[in-house]
Amino acid sequence: MSGKGKQTQRLDKILSHMGVGTRSELKKMVKQGRILVDGKAVKDSGVQVNPEINVIEVDGERILYRENIYLMLHKPPGVVSATEDARDKTVLDLLRKEDRIFQPFPVGRLDKDTEGLLILTNDGPLAHDLLSPRKHVPKTYEARVLGKVDQEDVKRFAIGVHLDDGYEAMPAELTILRYEETPEGTVSLISLIIHEGKFHQVKRMFQAVDKRVIYLKRVAMGDLKLPSDLPIGHYRELTEDELNGLRNYHTPD
Ligand code: URA
Repeated sequence: MSGKGKQTQRLDKILSHMGVGTRSELKKMVKQGRILVDGKAVKDSGVQVNPEINVIEVDGERILYRENIYLMLHKPPGVVSATEDARDKTVLDLLRKEDRIFQPFPVGRLDKDTEGLLILTNDGPLAHDLLSPRKHVPKTYEARVLGKVDQEDVKRFAIGVHLDDGYEAMPAELTILRYEETPEGTVSLISLIIHEGKFHQVKRMFQAVDKRVIYLKRVAMGDLKLPSDLPIGHYRELTEDELNGLRNYHTPD
């Protein structure tokens, strides 16, 4: 993972960032001789070190420092895309403590009942780029829609439907995958690529053509696809290639 090459920093700042302890706990650990830099016990928890060069050990274990974390979560329904919520479980509750210490936040929102690909990071500039309306990062969804989605809807989505507040959605690519007959009527399975992310966008686009989304899953963001081997509710770090793909994603402003 690329840190931005911050050179030297206080040892206690690095170690508290890595979740080893609070500053006062670290002071005690230093006194007890439990923290080594380049093989020598340090005397001052505020000593300047370069975590990319100096070898830091705590209780004999090397601390591998990094600044940023980049995760992809297969969001389950029933959790909110927020860092805290008074009522509901949040996506952060699904993370292990060693990942939560980096204070990641979700890049954009999926509704509570929406599943699928959600990126979490503590890299503000990257998140900003991915969410910037000017970058038009495509987001691909699969949905079950109550009603018969037809070629007329495909055309209307390609031109840009008007949402309930009068906003004209940007052209979107709607593909009809198949139909299912259910006791509630015809259900259309569709895939949709949108290039913006207004509140409840997909649901409101179908509402604009008098249909109702009954299941929604995000399957890709930019070139990053939700892997088929990532079970719902699970997450993993992005690979270097996946991260570079997101970093390189760029359309002319
Ligand atoms: N559009 C929606 O309506 N909901 C989501 O969660 C994402 C896109």
